Amino acid sequence: MKLLHIDSSISGAQSVSRQLSASVVIRLKDTLPGLGVSYRDLAAEPVPHQSPATRFAKLKSLYEAGVLAGEMGEVVAAAMQDGAPVDTSAQDEVAATSVALDEFLTADIVVIGAPMYNFGIPSQLKAWIDCLAAPGKTFSYTATGAKGLAGSKKVIVASSRGGFYSASSPMAFMDHQETFLSSFFGFIGITDITFVRAEGVNTGPEQRQRALESALAEIALLKAA
Ligand SMILES: Cc1cc2nc3c(=O)[nH]c(=O)nc-3n(C[C@H](O)[C@H](O)[C@H](O)COP(=O)(O)O)c2cc1C
Repeated sequence: MKLLHIDSSISGAQSVSRQLSASVVIRLKDTLPGLGVSYRDLAAEPVPHQSPATRFAKLKSLYEAGVLAGEMGEVVAAAMQDGAPVDTSAQDEVAATSVALDEFLTADIVVIGAPMYNFGIPSQLKAWIDCLAAPGKTFSYTATGAKGLAGSKKVIVASSRGGFYSASSPMAFMDHQETFLSSFFGFIGITDITFVRAEGVNTGPEQRQRALESALAEIALLKAA
């Protein structure tokens, strides 16, 4: 089995989500010693944001798969026939996007360090998720709506946030971090998603400690399979 470990915090060694995601990986390796692990640090080496070039590459692969209908199909076909000008930086962007997608597609388990920044996820993590939103690979359009294609994976999110946003909190409606991740992974078919969470870490050192201990206790119960 293969595990993909993703971090996205900009806080380096002080990062709570990095500490938690690393603990998740150690725990899962303990429960399954043969587990292969690959690592991507999105803060150190961000994947490119979406661009005209990455959009065109996605449309082209849809067209080639025969699922791009109507006027858009004609536009892409015409652009392909003209031979789009070779722009090396754009090719690098497209290649980096597809490497990130392939890493995800080949993983059985994905562990994601995901801090809350400004009520959502870090933009670096959002750019990575944009790489995963690949029609024909992680979801497909059908006559009855979109269908997820990545359902066999397990996702574990190591979530950290300065305040409190769980269901009982009056701030719950401002959580666009965990709710976004649940929605996205649900959309691509993943039902096995677990959040381990350290909340209120900026409300004082005692709460920070309590939150870490509670998250680490949950991590100690995780299993790779
Ligand atoms: C840029 C930035 C934005 C943040 N925005 C929020 C926020 O909207 N809500 C919140 O509760 N905490 C916020 N925090 C606090 C972090 O969620 C908290 O420090 C958490 O531990 C971050 O994870 P990390 O330590 O892995 O980076 C923010 C921190 C940073 C650095």
